[in-house]
Amino acid sequence: MADYDVIIIGSGPGGYVCAIRCAQLGLKTAVVEGRDTLGGTCLNIGCIPSKALLHASHMLHEAEHNFTKMGLKGKSPSVDWDQMKSYKEDVIGQNTKGIEFLFKKNKIDWLKGWGSIPAAGQVKVGEEVHGAKNIVIATGSDVATLPGVDIDEDVIVSSTGALDLKKIPNEMIVIGAGVIGLELGSVYARLGSKVSVLEFAETVTPGQDAEVQRTFKKMMEKQGLTMTLGAAVQSAEVKGGKAAVTYKLRSDDSEHQVKADTVLVATGRKPFVDGLGLDRLGVALTKRGQVATDGHYATNVAGIYAIGDAIEGPMLAHKAEDEGMALAEILAGQAGHVNYDVIPGVIYTHPEVANVGKTEEDLKTEGRAYKVGKFSFMGNGRAKANFAGDGFVKILADKATDRILGAHIIGPAAGDLIHELCVAMEFGAAAEDLARTCHAHPTYSEAVREAALACGDGPIHS
Ligand code: NAI
Repeated sequence: MADYDVIIIGSGPGGYVCAIRCAQLGLKTAVVEGRDTLGGTCLNIGCIPSKALLHASHMLHEAEHNFTKMGLKGKSPSVDWDQMKSYKEDVIGQNTKGIEFLFKKNKIDWLKGWGSIPAAGQVKVGEEVHGAKNIVIATGSDVATLPGVDIDEDVIVSSTGALDLKKIPNEMIVIGAGVIGLELGSVYARLGSKVSVLEFAETVTPGQDAEVQRTFKKMMEKQGLTMTLGAAVQSAEVKGGKAAVTYKLRSDDSEHQVKADTVLVATGRKPFVDGLGLDRLGVALTKRGQVATDGHYATNVAGIYAIGDAIEGPMLAHKAEDEGMALAEILAGQAGHVNYDVIPGVIYTHPEVANVGKTEEDLKTEGRAYKVGKFSFMGNGRAKANFAGDGFVKILADKATDRILGAHIIGPAAGDLIHELCVAMEFGAAAEDLARTCHAHPTYSEAVREAALACGDGPIHS
């Protein structure tokens, strides 16, 4: 008899959520984790620590720029970097210990060590082999390296090193104007670094709605980040504790060099499945090195499943969590399901950027007739009171049926506001359904309603 109904390899948001749901549904569950703490990249070296630094540096920005306007006089705070890092560590600790508590509460075993799969039905951790009816690969992703750029986590850092720099750099070069580059780049810009961003594409955050990209770029520049678009980084070299980054401008092939005391490489992540023994087992991978799965997260080897960053789809903690829950339900004989059309994306800069569903560019490519309802936060009373009038809510709805097809928000609390749109889309709502829903005044949410009104007879406050 197998020791467990399910063994999950990896305790990130995909793995730990899958484990809790499996246990709640009566399956005997264990999780393999080799790190000293649970929670994976997200809790230890990703989403959570970066949010602590984003919060602290935003508070500094408010103190420096807006306090006196509100009659809050006095000196702006100075930065104690070591204390800020220890606040961040404390936040990590509270979260990782929280998962440990939830494991105990749900009677989930933590098998400490790095796991491999010697054969279907078996997971090896250290010298011990545990039997499992089902094995879930939830091993996440790792930093994708760039040819010619060696990450030493000292001068040339990935997001991991950028969360733990010895000191705040005078000058920082960020390679990649994606989510990590702009979140962490804006942290250091607010803490006083001169931040230059080099981006291969002709826009920031490729894939976002183009109008949002343009507004976002301007906002980041206003915060002091310098953006060079169409820049293909060729190499980076460290000499005497400083780095020189060479890039080519794609427009004219001209070569340039920039120098800084820290370089952040933020050019994407790749699935992490090293050491599991997938080759030997014959588990099929996609061309991009992801574990290939069917609609039920099953690999081509019976009893082995995979979820999260290790498989296809956006590398987002909440996408992994939803897959974890769905798979647990499938393993328990229920009908687990993820609606991939309604997965929000959030960039946690200030202001935040959030999106769900189609962009205008997607709809044009698909040749769909659509309408746009847009409302600026300048027309929102609450935003004006909070110095947060920059940005807008944009709703895209089907021209004939008014059904909401996508939404894009750049502005205050965008990462929270987007969920009203997600729920509406999940229920197949029309923009008019949102427009007819009473929204409390004064709240940022009113801007969502106004954008919905803009899909119909027009907003009130613009
Ligand atoms: P990303 O895919 O968001 O952005 C990478 C950027 O680097 C792209 O804009 C790309 O064009 C650029 N790039 C690639 N090669 C380059 C070169 N040679 N020179 C210049 N630019 C180059 O990847 P990122 O920011 O590293 O994030 C990794 C993953 O983690 C993403 O999937 C992201 O969604 C996820 N993540 C999500 C967060 C969130 O949801 N808030 C936060 C942090 C990460």
